Amino acid sequence: MRVLGIETSCDETAAAVVSCGPDGTGEILSNVVLSQIGEHAAFGGVVPEIAARAHVEALDGVIEAALADAGMTLDKVDAVAATAGPGLIGGLIVGLMTAKAVASAAGKPLIPVNHLEGHALTGRLTDGLSFPYLLLLVSGGHTQIVLVRGVGDYERWGTTIDDALGEAFDKTAKLIGLPYPGGPNVEKAAAEGNPARFAFPRPLKGEARLDFSFSGLKTAVRQAATAIAPLAEEDVADICASFQAAIAETLEDRVSRSLDRFKRDFPGMARPVLVVAGGVAANRTIRGALEATCASRGFRFVAPPHILCTDNGAMIAWAGIERLRASIDSGDPLTLAPRSRWPLDTLSAPLIGSGRRGAKA
Ligand code: KG4
Ligand code: ZN
Repeated sequence: MRVLGIETSCDETAAAVVSCGPDGTGEILSNVVLSQIGEHAAFGGVVPEIAARAHVEALDGVIEAALADAGMTLDKVDAVAATAGPGLIGGLIVGLMTAKAVASAAGKPLIPVNHLEGHALTGRLTDGLSFPYLLLLVSGGHTQIVLVRGVGDYERWGTTIDDALGEAFDKTAKLIGLPYPGGPNVEKAAAEGNPARFAFPRPLKGEARLDFSFSGLKTAVRQAATAIAPLAEEDVADICASFQAAIAETLEDRVSRSLDRFKRDFPGMARPVLVVAGGVAANRTIRGALEATCASRGFRFVAPPHILCTDNGAMIAWAGIERLRASIDSGDPLTLAPRSRWPLDTLSAPLIGSGRRGAKA
């Protein structure tokens, strides 16, 4: 089985071809990711209209490149999978409409994929994981702890009540004059800094609920930076190191509580698994803290390669394969509409961003 996957929910235009053998083993035949970072950098963040236009311009070429890299033509794929939400609506429209056109022209089924499900199932493509396992998703738009019970079967245990973790990195970077995207720049500066100089808060640490909060931490950074402005290079490094230490300790606390709950809920599992996904998973300090937390509780820590942790088409193609193999009905492809808001777990009450159109994620 071979599926073409298309991803356009944020600022990466991506397409990939993934295959699956009869034993359920996946193989990435191609994975083309075109980042728009250069087009948004001057604005300090992703500008939705610029993103949508950039997807329109790039998507055809990215799909062609993905097919060419896989040594294949459209008639050789079994289905087309595309991100249908959640995300920026302009980009979603571009991706889903293109996928509809490609699928109907080639006479192939179209599978709409929830972007978060793509992240959630990546560990099965890279590491052949079996259900159930825990997922920590930490990206620019999402911060969630999710129990992955099966394809299409998710339970959200924790989410952020304000900013996403990547967003907190990006906003903090902006506050202290580091360029976008903030995460990698904060990590670089932190390497030279003193993590003990500023006593930033560890939000929600010690609380039984498994949620996250980062806006107070951001405010604490602003106050510290204002108090000692103008900032010397050493100050910036110390702020970054102290901020990262606060994040690592907070994650350790939230995640260790989640692992304990998992063990209580699934007592028979010899070596349970925590998978991490999202751009922030690239951060070595955070990764180290999570690895140590898993080791201390007998969990296997799985972190897919960076290119598969950040947004990509392979995870969408793979989610499409999983849905096909599970015989999940995708509905009528031509009437499918993209959804800017589309929670993975529709039963958990939304904590933020819930308007008339429903929960953000
Ligand atoms: O998953 P991703 O590529 O895109 C989505 O948000 O969907 O994540 C991007 C986020 C940005 O906020 C970026 O600052 C953050 O991941 N990030 C990092 C690092 N690399 C990327 N945050 C901390 N440390 C890093 N090394
Ligand atoms: Zn993502």
